[in-house]
Amino acid sequence: MDRNARYPAIADLRARARRRIPHFVWEYLDSATGSEATLRRNRAALDRLTFLPSILHGEIVSDLTTTLLGDSHPLPVGIAPLGMSGLIWPDAERLLATAAARAGIPYGLSTVATQTPEVIGPLTGGRGWFQLYPPRDPEIRADMLRRAAGSGFSTLILTVDVPVASRRERQLRSGLTQPPRLTPRLLAQVAQRPAWALGTARLGMPHMRTLDAYSSDTGSKDSTAHVGYLLRTSPDWDYLDWLRAHWAGKLVVKGVLNADDAPRLEQAGVDAIWVSNHAGRQFDAAPASIEVLPAIRAATGLPLIFDSGVEGGLDILRAIAQGADFVMLGRPFHYALAALGADGPAHLIDILSRDMAANLGQLGVVRPTDLRGRATRH
Ligand SMILES: Cc1cc2nc3c(=O)[nH]c(=O)nc-3n(C[C@H](O)[C@H](O)[C@H](O)COP(=O)(O)O)c2cc1C
Repeated sequence: MDRNARYPAIADLRARARRRIPHFVWEYLDSATGSEATLRRNRAALDRLTFLPSILHGEIVSDLTTTLLGDSHPLPVGIAPLGMSGLIWPDAERLLATAAARAGIPYGLSTVATQTPEVIGPLTGGRGWFQLYPPRDPEIRADMLRRAAGSGFSTLILTVDVPVASRRERQLRSGLTQPPRLTPRLLAQVAQRPAWALGTARLGMPHMRTLDAYSSDTGSKDSTAHVGYLLRTSPDWDYLDWLRAHWAGKLVVKGVLNADDAPRLEQAGVDAIWVSNHAGRQFDAAPASIEVLPAIRAATGLPLIFDSGVEGGLDILRAIAQGADFVMLGRPFHYALAALGADGPAHLIDILSRDMAANLGQLGVVRPTDLRGRATRH
């Protein structure tokens, strides 16, 4: 099968993934909060950015290699952390970490993933990033940092755009609970998705394994009241100082949209800022992530990581043109996995690389960073 002919774009992977994932899981993966205006705003704002093509510039051989946080990567792309990744596709964390290590790109493991840092860390080729939903209890906090560092994670991501649980109405309507409980309605959906069902039957119903050490099942009916939320606090600047003092590796703060926060984050000793609106899943009046990038770029010299709604190589170039150093994708890697199994992530990386190279050729530049300041907002 020629994958490039059958699945040339993320849209093709998404369509196939939807046919292979049960509906209630699809709603978890695909939904945002409120009326999903922020989700749409991300797409619209990316589409508004244009470049003037270049002519008569001779042959262009693009160079996508990028250094971030002291590591060299073959392309400026990584896999964003997704909670309950292994619910979306069986064994997702292991498959994604392995694919990322093979491609030489970073993989983010969520605190509320279905696998532990001990299992995933050794698979990441030293490029694993551990994403922290901040535990309230100082002992649990210290233990998680110890586990992440001891498992080989080089970088800690503190997510700050989830001070409270958001309401995701589509997710609520879908009947998904935490931990997932297979009611007859959900079972009927599972029965229509044999590959997912067989994989899940083989591995067991996924749950937040990293938290097993700290708490037993809460049995809540509300999908936003799971053990992850019960353990975590809403962090403040002192919490960040505590983390900086107790984490020797690189520290990244994820979920920043306000340029005014950048200097203070810099003072607090963080190593990079991750500009994100959580793909529209937290706050439906948030600006598009791409819209705030230039102001944050102007406010700090720290490396900037970007995500939210990237749907191809051109969007990666747009983000870099607006000031990002590195771009993470969350849902697309899960579409790829659900669509094509273990080979999906490599195919997605291939799509992104080809797409970036083709567009750099149109623009007559070798490196994505050569595009800084060249995008126009229409
Ligand atoms: C299903 C789902 C679960 C997520 N879980 C987490 C999480 O546990 N921790 C976190 O920091 N971000 C989480 N995110 C946000 C992603 O890390 C990332 O910011 C976002 O998905 C990027 O946008 P994209 O999916 O359009 O690429 C989640 C996103 C999705 C779609």
